[in-house]
Amino acid sequence: MTTPTRLLFFAGSAREGSHNKRLAQLGATIAEANGIAATFADLGDYPMPLYDADLQNRDGIPENAKKLEQLMRVHTGIFIACPEYNASITPLLKNTLDWVSRIRDPEPLFVFKTRVFALGSSSPGGMGGLRGLNTVRTVLELGLSALVLPDQFAVPKAAEAYDEHGHLKNKDSQEQFKALIQKLARAAHVLHG
Ligand SMILES: Cc1cc2nc3c(=O)[nH]c(=O)nc-3n(C[C@H](O)[C@H](O)[C@H](O)COP(=O)(O)O)c2cc1C
Repeated sequence: MTTPTRLLFFAGSAREGSHNKRLAQLGATIAEANGIAATFADLGDYPMPLYDADLQNRDGIPENAKKLEQLMRVHTGIFIACPEYNASITPLLKNTLDWVSRIRDPEPLFVFKTRVFALGSSSPGGMGGLRGLNTVRTVLELGLSALVLPDQFAVPKAAEAYDEHGHLKNKDSQEQFKALIQKLARAAHVLHG
């Protein structure tokens, strides 16, 4: 039986006005406009305490980590828009991935091993947060055994990058993003098809 291709988009920032949430939302809009079922999720709706093994031993895995993992499971491809903090991953994204990685059912790292991932970033700076993606990629690939597409997409100068409809003013960038989303959908289909 084939699994329908569904893409999940979320960002490693929960703040109101996040450039990366905007990028993830645009990704979901582009996917839907191209016939690919898509969901945008806000990590602000899945708050979790800072990971602490004693906390896990005492209280178990937070319900929000389980809920997010379930959401990931009903999608076949996942795009993460990753803010760059000091050339690295944000604490929010690392903490979220760490909690979800503690879920052992049906097997360790199941949801990471069975989805396809793609990465993007956005920042007010000139490099668009691209440097932080190396760390995110390492966490996903080496730490969580995930398949991550080699392509990645950055939106520099984020404050000026969007038009009034939420699309990228730079049409080449918009097309590049669309191509990445379509590739993610194809890869997810091959893996799950
Ligand atoms: C602790 C911290 C470190 C940051 N380091 C970088 C950085 O290395 N490179 C960069 O482009 N922006 C950096 N920024 C700026 C972020 O890109 C900017 O705050 C961005 O808006 C965060 O993403 P968001 O809009 O999705 O929340 C940093 C911001 C903070 C708070």
